[in-house]
Amino acid sequence: MTLDKRGCQKVQFLSETLQQIEKAGLKRSLRLLTPLGATRALHNGREVVLFCTNNYLGLTHHPRVLARVQEALQAYGTGSGAARLISGHTPLYQALEEAVARFKGCPRALVFPSGYTVNIAVISALAGREDVLFCDRLCHASLLDGCLLSGARLVRFRHNDPDSLRRLLTLHPGRRRFLVTEGVFSMDGDSAPLMELYELAEKNTLIFIVDDAHGTGVLGPGGRGTLAAQGVPAEKLVLTGTLSKALGSLGGFVAGSALLIEYILNCARPFIFTTALPPASIAAALAALEVLEEEPALVDRLWQNVDRLHAGLAALGYTVPKTSAIIPLILGPPERAADASERLLMHGYYVPAVRPPAVPAGTARLRITVSAAHTAAEIDGFLEALKDVLGQAVT
Ligand SMILES: Cc1ncc(COP(=O)(O)O)c(C=O)c1O
Repeated sequence: MTLDKRGCQKVQFLSETLQQIEKAGLKRSLRLLTPLGATRALHNGREVVLFCTNNYLGLTHHPRVLARVQEALQAYGTGSGAARLISGHTPLYQALEEAVARFKGCPRALVFPSGYTVNIAVISALAGREDVLFCDRLCHASLLDGCLLSGARLVRFRHNDPDSLRRLLTLHPGRRRFLVTEGVFSMDGDSAPLMELYELAEKNTLIFIVDDAHGTGVLGPGGRGTLAAQGVPAEKLVLTGTLSKALGSLGGFVAGSALLIEYILNCARPFIFTTALPPASIAAALAALEVLEEEPALVDRLWQNVDRLHAGLAALGYTVPKTSAIIPLILGPPERAADASERLLMHGYYVPAVRPPAVPAGTARLRITVSAAHTAAEIDGFLEALKDVLGQAVT
């Protein structure tokens, strides 16, 4: 498309904004990676090991999952053809929702096209203009976007700080009040003090929404999640999560009481007005839950790898709390994180720099993730590379 002078003026803001982003060291671009397995890929003709994927259990390439996906593809085709409430609800969907509900210890669950969608859908369906949403400061963009979409007053409390929440509760009355947090924080890897928050929610009649995207498949008995790990009764909450991380597929879910799910199904616009997931994704998530049930040792393997990486980091002088499969190495300025990332890539390890606005200003980082699919040799090699790179990058 060629633009005349007026056309150029009309879109000038695009290039100006991009220049500003670039000047701040925050320009993003896509990097081409050809997957070679759960944690390996080809990059510029060279094999690299990924220490950034949320494929915590390596289930994207589990033989049983692959077989179930192929069966589903042959039996049901590539697409679902319509929204869930039209003709997109199938026995596969029903089986998946029952499996998610069982796994999370809730009466019912409802599956959405993604974890992002489920968060914006659930919050905007539950809260409205006269309500107040108390949200942890470090909550994921999808939770924040749900809060903004709802039109409710948004009050952000200090990260993982029930005292900050307690103070704010006295200042902000509302028709209905909600507490929103994550089980495991996506960029910091730490867990919310869910039992203390649950007790606060009960005492103050708050509707408690927890997104356990990064605790699912990682924490708790059999990978049942952060609520199970902390003994919080999931059925009393609004629990959201994703099928796209440890479960190796695509989609999100909300789990809770039968009444809650019936309400969401009727009132959540991002559920009603979008096409159902393709059968292959549903079959993959269902098979992943079955594998997790039958091979809980997979979660143990993940934790052995987490332990190995933490021990190596400690030997290098980095002590990061061991709370999940996410290990943040905070380097500060975005350029520093980007430089460390580039140099790791030269060693054959891929960990992109995470920069603002994904994390607060001044806290750009390497967000390292561990998978059950990593070998001991890959972890040891990565530690060697980190020693070389961070020895120069961190003072
Ligand atoms: C905490 C959290 N919630 C929700 C999502 C969105 O999940 P999905 O990628 O399935 O849309 C993410 C993914 O980045 C996340 O980290």
